[in-house]
Amino acid sequence: MSPQRVTRVLVVENNIQAVKTFRKLLSLIENIEVIDFITTAQEALEMVSETKPDVMLVEEHLPDIDGISFTEIIRRDYPATQVIIVSQDKHYDTVLRALRNGASDFLAHDVSIGEFREAILRASELAARERVSYSPYATVENRSELPELGMRADVITVYSPRGGSGTTTIANNLALALRDNESQIALIDACLQYGDVDILFNELGRLSLMDLTPIAYDLDPKVVKECMILHRSSGLYLLAAPKHPVISEALSGEQICRVLEYTRNLYNHMVINTSSYINESTLAALDLADLIVLVGTQEIACIKSLRSFLEVWDSLGMKRDRLMLVINKYRAESPLTTKKISETLNHPVELFIPEDQESALRAANLGNPLMISNPNADISQAIAELADRVKKKLPTLQSEQRFRLFMKAQ
Ligand SMILES: Nc1ncnc2c1ncn2[C@@H]1O[C@H](COP(=O)(O)OP(=O)(O)OP(=O)(O)O)[C@@H](O)[C@H]1O
Ligand SMILES: [Mg+2]
Repeated sequence: MSPQRVTRVLVVENNIQAVKTFRKLLSLIENIEVIDFITTAQEALEMVSETKPDVMLVEEHLPDIDGISFTEIIRRDYPATQVIIVSQDKHYDTVLRALRNGASDFLAHDVSIGEFREAILRASELAARERVSYSPYATVENRSELPELGMRADVITVYSPRGGSGTTTIANNLALALRDNESQIALIDACLQYGDVDILFNELGRLSLMDLTPIAYDLDPKVVKECMILHRSSGLYLLAAPKHPVISEALSGEQICRVLEYTRNLYNHMVINTSSYINESTLAALDLADLIVLVGTQEIACIKSLRSFLEVWDSLGMKRDRLMLVINKYRAESPLTTKKISETLNHPVELFIPEDQESALRAANLGNPLMISNPNADISQAIAELADRVKKKLPTLQSEQRFRLFMKAQ
């Protein structure tokens, strides 16, 4: 924290012992101005509107409202003010509810000075950043609103307008093929109904995009990273699909975009798995992508769907350079040759991935993707080639146009 900046702290706590502890701990941190110690949310609301604190310590069990619901009100009406919830209940559901409601941290009554100091300083940093940059509509161009976290992933979205074409198989193995000794890679499951990325890596995700979108404008690297699963044998970071299918989407593409845009600042490459169903989540993943791997198969119905998708793409005035068309489950004997497909779609086929049902099925059922379990399989070799081409193409695409459905154009 800069020596000049004073952090103004309001404590809303009705536990006498905790008040004593916090008074002492706050006196030990430099550049803190304690606004007041008060005991009810009602009093706190009046004081917040007058003083707009940087940081609030809020007891979970207040006499007039529970502290976590109160946090939501504060964060909605005073977005720059950071709230630290104080509670003895460190149960997972309580912590998650606090974070979802916008709390920046969660502390016990008997917190150590080190932990307390760290939480206050972190909240103070966030408050300072939010004061300068808070806006409910972040845009890619307005980068000052997003954290400077040192990295900026290339985003590769894998999409097919036809279900079952192999989108997830390709996304998973492509993420693996992009690995090198230095890069950190995130694989995001943006398929909100029946996404299966975690299962295919023999993992079980607890948290998903659905847990991050409600706090899309209050994200913190720690919270995002806590939602990711580290797949130990590969080093990939996975964000699983929701545990239960999302039927009515209470979230907007703009929120999803914001979460993805934030998350890309924590990794070097980001691969997004999508569902063929065009919904807010799919559109957000297409919107944000630097490059889209468009997956098709040698089936008439699939080619028809690809053509419809390309028509939409063209009608939005998008350039096709960002689309890499890949034919999966390729069979040389099929009458629908890659040449015919290219002609029909008026788009080149970048490469094909051969059909190998047995290997694909075995890898899926073992939860061990082909790129790890069978790197010499023809499918793996083709996806390794795809990864090389993706890497070569990405630097040429930086200035290409986007859908800009959720992010403002320059
Ligand atoms: N090259 C391939 N050869 C043979 N089978 C494959 C190949 N690629 C994927 N498959 C198999 O096809 C099936 C569908 O694959 P996958 O789940 O990756 O498709 P998807 O497009 O993600 O499907 P969904 O629309 O259900 O999300 C799986 O059984 C998978 O093992
Ligand atoms: Mg899939």
